Amino acid sequence: MLIPPLSPAATPDSLPYDLFGAIQALKQELNAVILAHYYQDPDIQDIADFIGDSLELSRKAAATPADVIVFAGVHFMAETAKILNPNKLVLLPDLDAGCSLADSCPPDAFARFKAAHPEHLVISYINCTAEIKAMSDIICTSSNAVRIVNQIPADQPIIFGPDRNLGNYVSQQTGREMVLWQGSCMVHETFSEKKLVQLKMLHPNAEAIAHPECEPAVLRQANYIGSTTALLKYVQQSQSQQFIVATEPGIIHQMQKAVPDKQFIPAPPLNQCACNECPHMRLNTLEKLYLCMKHRAPEITLPETVRLAALRPIQRMLEMST
Ligand code: 13P
Ligand code: SF4
Repeated sequence: MLIPPLSPAATPDSLPYDLFGAIQALKQELNAVILAHYYQDPDIQDIADFIGDSLELSRKAAATPADVIVFAGVHFMAETAKILNPNKLVLLPDLDAGCSLADSCPPDAFARFKAAHPEHLVISYINCTAEIKAMSDIICTSSNAVRIVNQIPADQPIIFGPDRNLGNYVSQQTGREMVLWQGSCMVHETFSEKKLVQLKMLHPNAEAIAHPECEPAVLRQANYIGSTTALLKYVQQSQSQQFIVATEPGIIHQMQKAVPDKQFIPAPPLNQCACNECPHMRLNTLEKLYLCMKHRAPEITLPETVRLAALRPIQRMLEMST
């Protein structure tokens, strides 16, 4: 039987053959900018106008002259872009791209926690919902958390949320005791200290590098700890040729591009699974990126009262990390 050739019209929702070309054309048409986090699929990273960590992406979102922001990341990131740009269309390829860490901090429980510590300043990691941001005094990311806490007067008590691992790490680095919300990231808590030690023995010349969202036992094994951008810079500056990478492996795409002769080994998760890949980040695909631009949806919206309350601590963060 003769099989008829596939035509573009026969593909689901008329997906074009040249997705890269179609996305570029839509970008022109919409005057859009595509921002992508390092944990996105390599194809998405390759078509993005800008790739960065949470702090850099917030800065880009605050400064972009584009009319439309296509956020290839998770919901709280696109929401931050909307908080900063109420009059722009902010698109997220898959509205279900959430975050286990943000989910680990429900607003009503956090409101009670805050009420129990009325003298405390609330510093929240950007990986939280707009409602939590609205209850916070200052937002931080993994790349400026230490710098921000160091700027707070020593006698001012602090609540730090929602990530207990980043909170512990910041406490250690600053010598500040803080009241920690006990949230965590399902991806960064998946790394096994035992397997990491075994891998280090197998590769004695490799440096272990880790994101501060990892558990203390994993961080103790790390030669270097930093945000995704800091890790990317570190592998370029270090003399080492081999690195064991304890964060979401999406970052390895940029590491390989930056220093192709070096070797990157993803840190092993507890089980034989791919659970070091963020299931939320990976919900976005190149196809969904195209479709969200084509349909101008799904769009991020939020109540103006929440947006205004959440804007203040984000602006404070941007001022404190210049
Ligand atoms: P950074 O982008 O600050 O490195 O944080 C990583 C992360 O978990 C984003 O969800
Ligand atoms: Fe959230 Fe963790 Fe995924 Fe980052 S890696 S988006 S913190 S679940």
